[in-house]
Amino acid sequence: MRIADRIVEIRSAVQRARGNGSTVGLVPTMGALHAGHASLIERAAAVDDFVVVSVFVNPTQFGPAEDFDAYPRRLQEDASIAAEHGAHLVFAPTVEEMYPPGASTFVEVEGLTANLCGAVRPGHFRGVTTVVGKLFNIVAPDRAYFGEKDYQQMLVISKMVRDMHMPVEVVACPTVRETDGLAMSSRNAYLTAEQRAAAPAIRRGLLAGERVVKQGGSASEAVQTAIAQIATEPILKVQYVEAVDPETLTRPDHNGAPMLLAAAVFAGDTRLIDNIVVEG
Ligand code: PAF
Repeated sequence: MRIADRIVEIRSAVQRARGNGSTVGLVPTMGALHAGHASLIERAAAVDDFVVVSVFVNPTQFGPAEDFDAYPRRLQEDASIAAEHGAHLVFAPTVEEMYPPGASTFVEVEGLTANLCGAVRPGHFRGVTTVVGKLFNIVAPDRAYFGEKDYQQMLVISKMVRDMHMPVEVVACPTVRETDGLAMSSRNAYLTAEQRAAAPAIRRGLLAGERVVKQGGSASEAVQTAIAQIATEPILKVQYVEAVDPETLTRPDHNGAPMLLAAAVFAGDTRLIDNIVVEG
């Protein structure tokens, strides 16, 4: 598997592929690839002829007290996984390549970034949309593939694409889970055995919340039920559980409307997120 670290390399590889009539798919990642990423790559390879996987731990989306330095970096292993699942090229630029000295331009989506993770991670989505905007400019994909575990991210990027007239289709792909329900995440690797055993309570909590809604309960009853279920594992600390409209991420305004139940939970220093869309 070829690993390109320069923008000129990736541009000429994509140009060559396009010259052969290929469509281009992009799977943006921060590396430490797992089965969730593998499913995105496979989906891209099933639809697009030439698949680029970007591996870049993006400094601008981490807060000062977050895990930028600790974030797992294992490029060779990532490249093998990418190849195995159908990618044609890995783009793994340096920070200087992506943010040339003096870079001071950012892309920011307002509104959708105000709640949920946006409220507790100031600047996070600005970093995400800036780097994804750069990747779209560099790779110029027909389609880009994102996991629904990061539901708010997927929505924010879709809004950026619409607002900025970017000629890219955002493809949302289902969350891949461990057999006990825990959503796959590169950060799961941080968990101790005890934290790992407790973590599936997040999914159980969201499912319990969903049951409440399906039995006619209110959004706030669903949230309280989810929090209570997660609290059965005292090692887990809820940062938020919220019920919002799945399109606007604001409070659902009537019973019976579709609802996104979203959670962010700490297991020690490790922050885990998950969500479920409850159909009306
Ligand atoms: O979801 C991620 O891994 C990152 O936020 C992304 C989209 C690759 C941007 O750095």
